[in-house]
Formats: sequence, structure tokens, C-alpha cells
Amino acid sequence: MNYRNELNDMPSYDGVEKTYRIKVNANESTLGLPPLVEERVLNRLGLLAFNRYPNEEYYSLVEQIARNFSVDTSQVLLGSGSSEIIEKVFHAFGGAGHTVVYPQPSFSMYKIYAKAAEADGLPFDLDARFNLNVDEFIKTIREVNASLAVVCNPNNPTGNALTPAQVEQIAASIDCAFLLDEAYVEFYGRSAVNLVKRYPNLIVARTFSKAYGMAGTRVGYMIAQPSVTRMINKCFMPYHMNVLTLAAADVVYQMRNEFVPRIQMIIAERNRMSERLKTLPDVEVFPSEANFILIRLDAAQELKDYLETLGIGIRYFSPSAFGLKNCLRISIGTRTENDEVFSAIESFMEAGQ
Ligand SMILES: Cc1ncc(COP(=O)(O)O)c(C=O)c1O
Repeated sequence: MNYRNELNDMPSYDGVEKTYRIKVNANESTLGLPPLVEERVLNRLGLLAFNRYPNEEYYSLVEQIARNFSVDTSQVLLGSGSSEIIEKVFHAFGGAGHTVVYPQPSFSMYKIYAKAAEADGLPFDLDARFNLNVDEFIKTIREVNASLAVVCNPNNPTGNALTPAQVEQIAASIDCAFLLDEAYVEFYGRSAVNLVKRYPNLIVARTFSKAYGMAGTRVGYMIAQPSVTRMINKCFMPYHMNVLTLAAADVVYQMRNEFVPRIQMIIAERNRMSERLKTLPDVEVFPSEANFILIRLDAAQELKDYLETLGIGIRYFSPSAFGLKNCLRISIGTRTENDEVFSAIESFMEAGQ
């Protein structure tokens, strides 16, 4: 079989996961949809014309998003998860001889999307506390004449965030496209979408998978200037979003205020968990503006294995992952789940003393 050359080196994404009683390994929402939202979604699905391509449903959601951000509908594109958006942006600015610069550690898929787009991926190292040296980052982007710079804000898996002023400094100082991945921004509250009107290079990607508990439906979107969306739109297949996803997301977006108390709960629980984890000797807790917390301890792998025996799934990073040696990422669940996760970690640490 004569596959294309690059496919041999491409890592496979292993999507098969164990079943956990408490699943805090993938930064999903631990809660299903609020009951009223779920009821409206199910009603709406019953009214769909399954035999038609999803035109109306696509534009209905685009219109809502555009209205919310006071941008033109031509500035919004939808994707099957923000994954599809990010992949297409890499595709649009990739190709032979093009360089994509992104911090590391960050979302591990950036490296893979760069490869898939046949671009040169150039990771830029965060410091030991996972902070980005913005001036040096800008300098690197300019020096290599990058076609695309990517920043995840707040950053996955570290949890920390750039300020809006730092984001603006990057947008203003580079000529190339600048993709800002705001997958977790609802838990931070400081989006940069309003900067899009001032910076024609800025592309903001958002998702319904985290704050809106819609990871299973696969829906995300991007906002950029019309000249940018026009080009990136060329990378999508016609009707790449299915009507079930679009209709469900349309209802969820209309009812997004219903999610505000949950987002506030997750933020409060994150802060509470951080403080509790900080009380454990020998556990380093990194500051987080997202729906997860990164910690570091010598016995990281043993703790992950121990939690697994209790049916608790958290994220362990391979020792080869840059900067993440002995790190674990714990997504925030309900108060009861978080209490159980904390007690289990506490017992593990006490037993090890
Ligand atoms: C930083 C970041 N960006 C994008 C995604 C993709 O999310 P989705 O495709 O579900 O929108 C994730 C998922 O975990 C993520 O962590």
C-alpha cells in the first residue's frame, strides 16, 4: 500500500479510554445539560428535516454567535469541535516552507496539526513556572518568519493565562496569523474576541465542549475578520456540520445563561481544590484559570495508578512530554466528586509518609 510519506511518522490518537466512576481526566463538563435545556434540545431534534442538508441550522447558530459578539455573520465559522477549526487554520497557513510557532507545554494536538498540514512546527518553551516570555515569543515568531502563531489561553494543560494586554501585545507585534485558542476562556472570563476588529491577523477559536457540556456533540467556532474567514472557509467540506449538532447547539447557545451558575460553581470549586491541594506537603500546585488544575509530585505515576484502582481517572503525562515530568492534571467535577478525589489523594500522600 502506497500511503503518503508523512503518514508513516504521524502519531495515532488513541481515543479508547477506561471507564471511570469519577472521570476527571479530559476537562469535560462533569454535568449533563441543565434539565430545561435538555428538554428544549430534545424537542427541537424532533422537528428536524433529516432529509435536508443543514443550511438553515448552520446560519441560525452563526447569526446568534455574531449577534452576541457584535460582529458580522461573515466573521463566524463553525466547526465540528474547535478541533476542526484549529486543524483548518493550520491547514490554511501550513504547507511546505511554512512555520507554525506555539508554546510548549500546551495542547498536544498543535504539533500533530502542524505535521498534518506539512508545516514546520516550532515549539517555544515556557519557563519553569509555565509562564510565556511574550517578548521572546514575538522575537522568535519574527525571526523564523512564521506563517502562524498559536496560543492557548488559558493554557492546557498548565492552567495559567496571559492577560488581555499580553494577547494584544502579541497580535500587534506580529504580521502573521495569530490563532488564540480560547477553549477554556469561560472559566477565566477575559476573552480577546473584542480585539478581532482591531487586528486583522487575530483568529479566536472557541468551543461548546467545556463550559457548555457539549463535548459529545462536537461543536466549536472561530471569529476573525471577513477576509480571513473567507480563506479558511475554503478548507472545509460542504455541510461539514451535522444537523443534530447544529440544532442542539442553537438551543444551548440561546439558553447560555442557564450555564452561568455551573461555570461559577466550577470556578469556585477549582479555587477550593487548589487551596486544599496546597495544604499537602510535597505537592506543587500550579495556578489555574481553567476547569482543571495541574499538580506536580514525585510519585505522580503511582498516584495516578492508585486513583485508577478507586475508579478515579486523572490525566498523567508521559515523562517525555516537555516540562510535564511528574505532573498530573485533574479536571474539576462536582463538589462531591472533588471531595472524593481530594480525600483519595490525601490518603495516598499520608500512606507514603
Ligand atoms: C486547548 C484545547 N483546544 C481545543 C480542544 C478541542 O476541543 P473540541 O474539539 O472538543 O472543541 C481542546 C480539547 O481538550 C483543548 O484542550
